[in-house]
Amino acid sequence: MSSLGRYAQTCPIIYGVGAINVLGEEVKKLGCSKVMVVSDENVSRLEIYAKGKKSLQDAGVQVVEFTKVIPDPPDYIINEGGENAKAEQIDGIVAIGGGSPMDAAKGINVLVNNPGPVNQYFGNPFYQPGVPVVMVVTTAGTGSESTSVGVITDTINDVKNSVIVNATLGILDPEATVSVPPEMTAATAMDAFAHAAEAITAKMPNPKSELLSVAAIKKIMANLPEAMADGNNLKARGELLLASNFAGIAFNDALVHLGHCIAHSAGAKFHVTHGIVCALALPEVMKYAAKIDAEKVKIIGEAMDISFSGLESVGEIGEMVAEAIRIFNRKVQIKSFKDLGISRADLLAIAPMVFKDACYNFVPKELKNEEVNTILGEIYDNYQ
Ligand SMILES: [Fe+2]
Repeated sequence: MSSLGRYAQTCPIIYGVGAINVLGEEVKKLGCSKVMVVSDENVSRLEIYAKGKKSLQDAGVQVVEFTKVIPDPPDYIINEGGENAKAEQIDGIVAIGGGSPMDAAKGINVLVNNPGPVNQYFGNPFYQPGVPVVMVVTTAGTGSESTSVGVITDTINDVKNSVIVNATLGILDPEATVSVPPEMTAATAMDAFAHAAEAITAKMPNPKSELLSVAAIKKIMANLPEAMADGNNLKARGELLLASNFAGIAFNDALVHLGHCIAHSAGAKFHVTHGIVCALALPEVMKYAAKIDAEKVKIIGEAMDISFSGLESVGEIGEMVAEAIRIFNRKVQIKSFKDLGISRADLLAIAPMVFKDACYNFVPKELKNEEVNTILGEIYDNYQ
């Protein structure tokens, strides 16, 4: 029977202003007495980091700091963190940061009770379980606190790979994201938007992921402009954290597809911000998805407040949703490929990479080479 569905129940979440202050108590409840705090240099200078550390110390939890994580965390950093964790005999991990520290913490956790290097556990769920991992989320985008994978750069083969690890607890405190500048706030939120829209139109959707994705899209539409206009708006920041978490839970089951193939390929080739490419690719990805199942794309449109008469053709539904996303992209100042200094020909040149991306396995319908070329060309032409 191929009609069986499956959805996961991921880790508990504590959310709200001041959630950082219960970090220490919660870590203690998990039975930890000495934790490694995994972070990066920038985050380690933020107030939220100091608050997290204080909360741990006030609860009598010993803290070992590992703040060497860099973007797209490479295997050798994870291996170093794993060695430190073993030498220090830690019994818990607390990640404070965005996607990179969260993913690094997952990788380090694989090494706590297993020999290194981390590379031997890529895609491999069979290893001795690690220690509790608590995620304090400082960017509202990846939803990594609620996904089962940690993305790590395999520097031997020069590709991105992933370990399979769940967090034990997520802490979503809006004060953790107040210092994220408007451009990055938009990029990360649009990453979450893409997770939600791709999860709804995925090959393996499920009712739970659809419900959470719709809620995520509504929250992003309603709160992203406000969070950009006033970074200290804690209500908007909190809603974006929930949206990114909801979208994370949604795509953890349903998986993301073509938009992320394009985002990963363009990211590798041009080193452009992941969420920006997700936002740029999404309108044309919705037109592609409408041809496969227009009803799913309508759900996204309705979450964006489009009213459909019921008389629209598949092509019209795709274009209506695509245009609504383009308008929102403009509103939240997403730069075009041209603005990013990328030519049309350069963008079209990533087509072979799109087919090789790991997410290509999850596209709802196989594409021909010329279809990908058309999609890439329209991404460029239709948003200038
Ligand atoms: Fe993403």
